[in-house]
Amino acid sequence: MDQYSMFMDLVFKKSGIDLASYKEKQMKRRIEALAARRGFNSLPDYFTCLDNDNKLYYEFINYITINVSEFYRNPGQWKVLQEEIMPILLKDKKGLKIWSCACSTGEEPYSLVMLLTEFMKLEEVKIIATDIDEEAIEKAKTGIYKENSLKNLSSAFVDRFFIKDCSQYRITDEVKKRVEFRKLNLLKDDYPPQCDLIVCRNVLIYFTEQAKQHIYKKFSGALSSKGILFVGSTEQIVLPGKYNFSPIKAFFYTKNN
Ligand SMILES: C[S@@+](CC[C@H](N)C(=O)[O-])C[C@H]1O[C@@H](n2cnc3c(N)ncnc32)[C@H](O)[C@@H]1O
Repeated sequence: MDQYSMFMDLVFKKSGIDLASYKEKQMKRRIEALAARRGFNSLPDYFTCLDNDNKLYYEFINYITINVSEFYRNPGQWKVLQEEIMPILLKDKKGLKIWSCACSTGEEPYSLVMLLTEFMKLEEVKIIATDIDEEAIEKAKTGIYKENSLKNLSSAFVDRFFIKDCSQYRITDEVKKRVEFRKLNLLKDDYPPQCDLIVCRNVLIYFTEQAKQHIYKKFSGALSSKGILFVGSTEQIVLPGKYNFSPIKAFFYTKNN
């Protein structure tokens, strides 16, 4: 077994993260670069140290999960969500089950809460938000952001939903209460059933074709009839019909029945 395969094995046993489902070239290069930065030139040595050093371990998890996010990331797509997709979803239903499935540090589920207030009272909004990375989830629950991550938000949203704290912005408790955060590994855990909207953006790009296909099938099973899947800007699905999806707009797919 080569060093990388051994390393993947050890990481899986320790963290439950199956690196074999992520694109190997990209992931291996990133891990080797991080190990080298910390002074290790062999992956087994690096693993021995991160197995015994929590700080090193969490740095590693944080690094491989890539938590980059921002509010209303790719704003044009959020405009489509608001103006074209939400009216479809709300045509026959009042309450919606919405799942942000790789929510990172919370910008995506909190953006969904803000957008939903254009259609219902804040108290009526409920978002399920999950991620594999517990540290990211803790940050999401804290809800403190740098000004730059709010750059796509209208000043009306910033004034209504944030409290400025020196150079940082804290999301209000009223918004926080609308989101239920929990840990979920897309590769192996059960998905919340009967979702009307699944938002899965900027995570599938890291997975192998096989892992992606497995996840699309599970999304299809987790969506209600006519439910909608919202993907990231480089994550269009090849052959959506295979998963019982039809494209409705770029980056949006509906489950056929
Ligand atoms: C680049 S962020 C995307 C955040 C947000 N969806 C966005 O588009 O701005 C990718 C997120 O996917 C999460 N992730 C990676 N592998 C995952 C897995 N197997 N299951 C669930 N989340 C995963 C990472 O922890 C990270 O927070």
